[in-house]
Amino acid sequence: MKATATAHTNIALIKYWGKRNESLILPTNSSLSLTLDGFRTTTTVDFRDELSQDTFTLNDEIISGEQYNRVTAFLDLIRRSAGKNNLYAAVQSINEVPTAAGFASSASGFAALAAAGSKSIGLQVTDQELSRLTRQGSGSACRSIYGGFAEWKMGEQADGSDSFAVPVAPTEHWDIRVAAVILSDTMKKVSSREGMKRTVETSPFYSGWIDSIPSDMEQMKKGIANRDFEKVGKIAEANCLKMHATTLGANPPFTYWLDTTLAVMQTVRSMRDKGIAAYFTIDAGPNVKVLYLPEDEKNVEKTLRETPGVTDVILSKSGQGVTYY
Ligand code: PMV
Repeated sequence: MKATATAHTNIALIKYWGKRNESLILPTNSSLSLTLDGFRTTTTVDFRDELSQDTFTLNDEIISGEQYNRVTAFLDLIRRSAGKNNLYAAVQSINEVPTAAGFASSASGFAALAAAGSKSIGLQVTDQELSRLTRQGSGSACRSIYGGFAEWKMGEQADGSDSFAVPVAPTEHWDIRVAAVILSDTMKKVSSREGMKRTVETSPFYSGWIDSIPSDMEQMKKGIANRDFEKVGKIAEANCLKMHATTLGANPPFTYWLDTTLAVMQTVRSMRDKGIAAYFTIDAGPNVKVLYLPEDEKNVEKTLRETPGVTDVILSKSGQGVTYY
């Protein structure tokens, strides 16, 4: 049966940074994110008897190599769960996550693939099962099953059976916004996989990062429940700074920041000095995401666009979870 699903990317307010099991993608800490409506992937999967191998097109282009291998390895998991190891699929994806925005399109990509793939092969899955499956394609993607705020519980089991995301608050709970700030400079990227591995193995700051998570998580959830923007923003910003601090202690040391990254961070701080509530967060790349409230949108966008080194600003609202067609 042919099945189509859409998923959105998400931005972590409490970061996932480090794996305890690389092949099962089990994290060393729980994380929490906001799903964003601006950036989405729509995927159609068609498992069919007459196919002798999987095919994958992305934005109407036939994909081979590393990207194709990641998709087929993930389809293997779906085949195994369904007990249909010799059934192949045609996969078509349309990705509306601008690469330059510095969002891992893997989050919306794997969430949509997991949803459409499971439905096409006839698996009946709960959201938790879908999140656990998605996790094995890309860790942060397991949070994109849900709209609004979601927590990925790290779990304790060695087989990953209790490592999946759960909803924290739906999209309707709170109209909170995110500006993705695109910078003119680019850099040779240390992938999140490599960056995590290096900090876990070598950074003396890593244990401090892990120790700080439970309290950040508890406070963040309180902040979300009470729609306390200052609390949520402060914790998100500090959590991001702690994550990035671990990379400076790694061997060899590295950072995802450019001078323009620091300039945007400074712009955000000066907005706060002028009474505009805005907070930043940064993933495994140089671009900055800024959290703000609807009433400040015009001001925040204008100020960010005026910062030297900024080439674009893409605004987003809280988005929905996986949707089937
Ligand atoms: O799931 P990955 O491999 O794209 O790693 C994501 C890591 C961060 O974006 C830095 C943090 C997060 O929780 O999304």
